[in-house]
Amino acid sequence: MKSIKQLKNLKGKTVLLRVDFNVPIKNGKILDDFRIRKALPTIKFLEKRGAKIILITHLGKDGSESLAPIIRHFSKISGFSVGMFSSTFELPEGPTPSLPRGRAQGRKSGREYAGKHNPDIYFFENIRKFPGEEKNDLRFAKRLASLGDIYVNEAFSVSHRKHASVVGLPKYLPSYAGFQLEAEIKNLSKVFKNPKHPFLYIAGGAKFATKLPLIKKYLRLADHVFVGGSLVNIFLKEKGYEIGKSLLENAGCDIKFILNNIKLILPTDVLIENDTISAGAKSVSLKKINEIKKSETILDVGDESVKNLEELIKKSKLILWNGPLGRYENGGAKATKRTMNFLLEQKGKEIVIGGGDLTSLVPKKFLEPRNYKLKPNLFVSTGGGATLDFLVEGTLPGIKALTR
Ligand code: 3PG
Repeated sequence: MKSIKQLKNLKGKTVLLRVDFNVPIKNGKILDDFRIRKALPTIKFLEKRGAKIILITHLGKDGSESLAPIIRHFSKISGFSVGMFSSTFELPEGPTPSLPRGRAQGRKSGREYAGKHNPDIYFFENIRKFPGEEKNDLRFAKRLASLGDIYVNEAFSVSHRKHASVVGLPKYLPSYAGFQLEAEIKNLSKVFKNPKHPFLYIAGGAKFATKLPLIKKYLRLADHVFVGGSLVNIFLKEKGYEIGKSLLENAGCDIKFILNNIKLILPTDVLIENDTISAGAKSVSLKKINEIKKSETILDVGDESVKNLEELIKKSKLILWNGPLGRYENGGAKATKRTMNFLLEQKGKEIVIGGGDLTSLVPKKFLEPRNYKLKPNLFVSTGGGATLDFLVEGTLPGIKALTR
């Protein structure tokens, strides 16, 4: 895989830069811009070397969402002026469009741009708007490739998708990895390539089917696997405990052999929510795992379990953590927050946070580049599903596409 560090002079070259700015937005406001900020060093590096940059991202699932809030926010935090391609780029079999600058300099582009006419950076439209993207239609990829001279993947978090802008484009252009993509590979690989021991894996969140391959793999590689989140419910049920009204996913396979693994650590107590409403709110209380009633729902991991987990953290040199320990969006964030704070206070440990929902529970000060020295051995992944796939497979389609 070639690094963008190998690119010296990019004057007159157009770089198609795949980023993943698919970030949470509410009422036009960006709720979390971690992924955007993480792509900035690569964008600045390419811009400094004289490249014309066309950023390609998706937003949402079906391509119907406007990139306007993203562009506004990006422009504000990066200081770049931004222009946007209009929708004349539609049919894969149409004539190859000319470039706005760079190769096609001086020619009439035949394309309209919103905003500034000579911006620092262009945004391509929400790439999922084009049916060829998700189908990885190679005619579409080729047409897209005709807009640039070089392709850079700085979108680790969508590199698990076999989409045209991820795996198709590198077939047609010299292709490189961005800084964050390289950092993701280097840091996430630490947990499966000669990991340090003792090694603790904390598995939380829901979606048992996607977490099961991880639990199986890290029961082999790690010294302890602590299970939290809704994943616990399946294990408790399988052990014969009452889990009341808690979410019970289908295990999809026999998990008895996992239950007997001595490396597997389950909570010994949980915070439960009762159906009865007192003072306008549902009552919550701590219970041992054998005390849960039919009318109750597990909300979070309990205090005793968090203490056990803290002891495991103290003993470990390497900690990998995916997914919150409780239903954090429904009032079950306490165990995750307490454990996160405890973990980040520890000295001399390698910590890998597997992205997704858990990223929003990492205190902001640790995510600011200027504060990285606060916790030099902490890596927070920008991926969700991509991180899980990478941790299981050791690679992703978008990474393989760069190594051909
Ligand atoms: C993500 O948010 O995980 C990535 O942007 C991928 O999005 P997707 O699940 O819609 O492909």
